Amino acid sequence: TTISPLIAGNWKMNGLTHSLDEMAELARLLTTGAAPRAIVVVCPPATLLAAVAAQGASSGILAGGQDCHPQSSGAHTGDISASMLADAGAQFVIVGHSERRQLHGETNEIVRSKAEAAIGAGLKPIICIGETEAERESGQAEHVVSGQLAAALPDAAAQHEVVVAYEPVWAIGTDRTPSLEDIAAMHTSIRTCLTERFGERGETIRILYGGSVKPHNAREILNVDNVNGALVGGASLLAKDFYTIISAV
Ligand code: G3H
Repeated sequence: TTISPLIAGNWKMNGLTHSLDEMAELARLLTTGAAPRAIVVVCPPATLLAAVAAQGASSGILAGGQDCHPQSSGAHTGDISASMLADAGAQFVIVGHSERRQLHGETNEIVRSKAEAAIGAGLKPIICIGETEAERESGQAEHVVSGQLAAALPDAAAQHEVVVAYEPVWAIGTDRTPSLEDIAAMHTSIRTCLTERFGERGETIRILYGGSVKPHNAREILNVDNVNGALVGGASLLAKDFYTIISAV
């Protein structure tokens, strides 16, 4: 089975109106250069989502949210629902990013309910999992990640498109990455979990790698078996760098 690769940019809490100039530049690069092999997704802050979705339409860039609430509406001041993201033009939403897990106390159960809400609103959830440095050093990385996957991935993934993003916490924003051998081992382990649970369909679920993907290392990482794309943080903020990563696949 060949899976078309997907490259998603996560702007995190970065981006003001002028950042739409970078979007325009990315659109220019994507429409004037060779057609990208990858599906391209940009996940801006919610304030820019509608603008990014509108701007991306003519260049094939899809928009995604960075988080959603498990419920579709209600008394949840400051939160945003999956249907609101869809209404603003999103097709994807990141759930369970390690920053949400660490700084907002999100458990696997919460992440799963967010993924279910996303599916219910017609969005494709990008479900993030990954071990901490201490967990890797104690030899627990695969055990931790397979546990997160089992608990955070909804059963609805059997019928609906979901994306898994493996992001070792210690590689996020650090300019450190696992060795290619370690990335291959983890992605193969995740693939095995997916096929054990979902059968043949598990072969078709994209597994992205995230954590310090940069223009200089994108090609070798994206070449690793069972790496079906990347979730890019810092390097997605500059159109030139993000385009280099998109073109590396
Ligand atoms: O969602 C993106 C990841 O947290 C990776 O961020 O590319 O800045 O390391 P980074």
